[in-house]
Order: sequence, then C-alpha cells, then structure tokens
Amino acid sequence: MTNCPSFPDAPLNPLPNLPQPPWYANAIFYELYVRAFYDANGDGQGDLAGVIARLDYIKELGVDCIWLLPICDSPLVDDGYDVRDYRKLLPEYGTINDFRRLVDAAHQRGIRIICDLVLNHSSDQHEWFMQSRSSRANPYRDWYVWSDDPNKYKEAGIVFKDTQASNWTWDEGSQQYYWHRFYPQQPDLNYDHPAVQQAMLDVAGYWLGLGVDGFRLDAVTYLYEREGTKCEGLPETHAYLKRLRQFVNERNPAAVLLGEANQPPIASLEYFGDGGELQMLFNFPRMTTTFLALATESAAPLYRILREIENLPQGAQWGTMLRNHDELTFEMVSPAEREFLFNYYAPDPRQRINWGTRRRLAPLLGNDPRRILLAYSTLLTLPGSPVIYYGDEIGMGDDIALPDRNGVRTPMQWDDTANAGFSTADPTRLYAPVVNEPPYDPAHVNVAAQQSDPYSFYHQLRHLIAVRKAHPAFGAGRLTLHETANPAILVHSREWQGERIVALHNLSAQPQTFTFPAEFTAMVATDLLTNTEYKEMGEITRLEPYQYLWLSTWTSH
Ligand code: NOJ
Ligand code: CA
Repeated sequence: MTNCPSFPDAPLNPLPNLPQPPWYANAIFYELYVRAFYDANGDGQGDLAGVIARLDYIKELGVDCIWLLPICDSPLVDDGYDVRDYRKLLPEYGTINDFRRLVDAAHQRGIRIICDLVLNHSSDQHEWFMQSRSSRANPYRDWYVWSDDPNKYKEAGIVFKDTQASNWTWDEGSQQYYWHRFYPQQPDLNYDHPAVQQAMLDVAGYWLGLGVDGFRLDAVTYLYEREGTKCEGLPETHAYLKRLRQFVNERNPAAVLLGEANQPPIASLEYFGDGGELQMLFNFPRMTTTFLALATESAAPLYRILREIENLPQGAQWGTMLRNHDELTFEMVSPAEREFLFNYYAPDPRQRINWGTRRRLAPLLGNDPRRILLAYSTLLTLPGSPVIYYGDEIGMGDDIALPDRNGVRTPMQWDDTANAGFSTADPTRLYAPVVNEPPYDPAHVNVAAQQSDPYSFYHQLRHLIAVRKAHPAFGAGRLTLHETANPAILVHSREWQGERIVALHNLSAQPQTFTFPAEFTAMVATDLLTNTEYKEMGEITRLEPYQYLWLSTWTSH
C-alpha cells in the first residue's frame, strides 16, 4: 500500500496508564452502496471510480470508515449478496486495480474501508455450486448442504418469509434438496467441510491483501446446521468465527470484524466471545426500540433495552444504526409491539416486507428534521459506533414502487440537475430511477443545496458528528442511565477520563418539564452543541419538543 497514513487511535490528551479505545470505538461508519453512489463513466450504474470521486464529500461529513455493500461479481439476485466469484469485482463497478486505487485514496484521507464478506452462502452461479450440483460424485458435492429429506432442520426459521416457503430447494439434476437460508439462488456453504472453512479464510486473506481494514460479516449466525436446533449461533459457528478473527488479526492487527446477527442483546454477547470473536456487532434490537420510543414518545423502551446490557466488555463495540439497505426489522419486539410498529410506520401494506418496513429514515419520521436529528442524537450519544446509511445524511426518500428492498437503494441525490447529478446517462439507462416525488425529489433534497445552506439538515448532522468525535466519552465512555419522573425524557451519561457528558432527550412533540436527578443539580455544565454555560445543571427544567442537550461536566480524579 502506498501513502498509508497511521491512523490516530488516541483521544486528545489521554491520561497516562488508561487503556486506549480501539479505533473502531470512536469511528463514524458510512454504509455505501456503490451502484447508487456516483456513476463516473456515465453507464447508469455507480462505480468505484465514482466512490473515489466523492471521497472528499464522505470525509467532510466526518466519516472514519466506509462499509462497502457487496462488490464482488454476482448475478445480482440479491444485490451482490449472491457472490459468483469472491476474487473478482462486478464488472460494472470496476476492476481489482480500481479497488486498490479506492483503498489508497481512502487511506490517504484517513478513511478506512471495510467490505461485506458473504460467508454463509454463495451464488448458485458460483463455480463451486455448479460443480457441486453437477453430480453426487463431484469433489465439490459436500461444499454445500444436500439432503433427501426436506423436513430436516425444520426448526430453522425462514428469513425471506414473504417469498420463500422452505429453506430447501429441489435440484432436478442431482435429485436432492439443497439448503439455503435466503433465496434459492443463494445455496448455503457447508461449514462442516474443512475445505470450505479454509476457502473462506483464503477469501478473507485475499481482501486483506488488497488493504481492507476489516469486514462486515453477512448473516454470521447461520454458518452451521444441526438437527433439533434453530440452526443459529451454534457452538461450531462461534468456533469458526474465532478462527476467522485470529486469521484476520494475524494479517492485520487493526482489522475489525463487524457481524450481522439479529439477536437479543444478551445472545449477542456470545459473538464478542470474551474478546476473541467479533469486535463489533450490529445492535438491531436497539434500532427497532428507538423507533418504538419515538412512536410512543416514551423513553421506557430505550431504558429497557439499554438496561439489558449497559456496558460491553473491553474492546467490544456495538455498531448502531437507524436504517440500512434492508427493511427496518420489527422482529425483536413482542407481537403486540410489532403490530403497533407495523400500523404506525407502515400503514400501507406495500411499505411492508418480511419482518419490517422497506422505508427510509426521513419518511419514517414524517420528514421532520427535529425528530430525525433527535433520533441521530440518541445514536451519537448512546453506546456504539454509528453507521450512517448513504443518503440519510440529507434526508433522502424511498420508492415503494420498486420491488424487494430496492426502494431504499435509489441513486444518491447530489444536486437538482438531470438524474440528480448521479449520472450523465440517459435516465432510461439508470439502474434504478431517481426518487421523483416531492418532497423527496432532487429539487427538494440534494447534497449541493444542503451544503450551501449552513442551517440545513446535513450541516446540523455534521455538527453533531464533529462534536461527538471531539469527545471520546461518546465512543468509549461508561454508560450510566438516569431517570426523571417524566416518561418522555431520556437521561444518560457517558464518562471517560474525567469527562462526564450528560445527554437529555425529549422524545415527545410537546414541551416537557422535569427535575434533574439530585446528583447533578449543583454541577457546572457546558452544552457542547451551543456552548451555553450552566452554573448549576438544576437550572435546566424544561425541554422543547424533540429537544436534546449534550452537557459536559468535568469531575476531578
Ligand atoms: C443480510 C443482508 O443485509 C441482506 O441484504 C441479504 O439479503 C442477506 N443477508 C443475505 O445475504
Ligand atoms: Ca458507471
């Protein structure tokens, strides 16, 4: 790698002899869909050259690490989560040399890159599967999971439950069923086969060799199957993930593994494996709970989920998000809460898919910048490294006319010119149409307009990000939950190396009064967002609708 800068891990003025947080604890992540981001060669599809061209934009937002959605060669049945060749790029995106250029250009700006690693399954067009299905005697036969009995593993749930009736599909040619947790075009690899275990380590090694800073591990719960279980998070799966972690960190000690496992918080702990498994895990239940708290204007659901695990073991970190490229899942709440969430956030049946809703952040929150910023404020102040989904930083909308989850994967809206400045291609050649319905069309929502307006949503979010990054307590600090008698107010604090930041959120649409917990009333504080000084925090007794405060207080050691 050329010109690879050293990434400063340490916070400002660290006190001696205290463990420093790892880089990912203080990082802002940006989830980027290459096809949607910027089309540099005018063929209607975003590409790696386009990402390179827009790295300065990403840097300016305050991003430390880009997570690239799948970029490998694929028939695109599941937007690249069906990999045809793990060592080749999707031709529309560019070449491996373009990828090297992207890594270098990002590193030169102090931005890290992690890639999606699809471990659980390949495409049915992958050479391994084509061999495997060609005959039962083929040496690749056991690289996938075959059975004569489609009732095997019947306790395993169906993820794409709207379109799939079974996790087994009959293969006419070789007269057996094969196992797949997702679409039939995504056969599960058989991790009981040592050659598969090794092959996927080699894939990770290949990408580490190209300079990636880690991986977002797709669908990590499902690697192994065992009869009589839900085939999720089995001991064998954890053992393999530990092996992968060791393999990865031997090659790049700073590389991070960020796992996708939609599990209750306590079950998630296992994936951190006392420091030996994944360093990061998405916190799906917190995402859903944030939407529940916003809809009910009550902090109670957030307190409940945060109490389950207040502080993670050293070195472990949540990846926290409000939205991503999939549906907003309502899986991890009670059936009554799920019904409430569906009715509240997805009243039109077309907005629903599988376990959740296929809408973007801004429409979900009524396109109200106060509510959206409030949601971001919880994300930026509660434990976890925020993962921002491309386009949500300017409040992009969605398009439910598009199938599956494509409605939240539309072209990035750079300006109000043709194709929203995303591409110079004829509009009929775009991989997906630009969102054209007001108030989310490019005339109302675009990067250029928001960058030139200092009061725009983009600039307000950028300010929150900058303040968070200047205070390592948000990334690494110990969490304490506090309560007031007012159920609409969330109060928590984060503490790190002498700084204590108390964050207050009014989740309701009405002004709210409250009394600070006694321990704080006499303390001096500075509002980090406005620089307002308070001689006594007890002076603060009221929050405006959706208002939040980030109050910094210093304690002596
Ligand atoms: C999770 C990904 O986020 C989703 O988009 C994909 O369809 C499945 N895994 C299968 O790879
Ligand atoms: Ca292109």
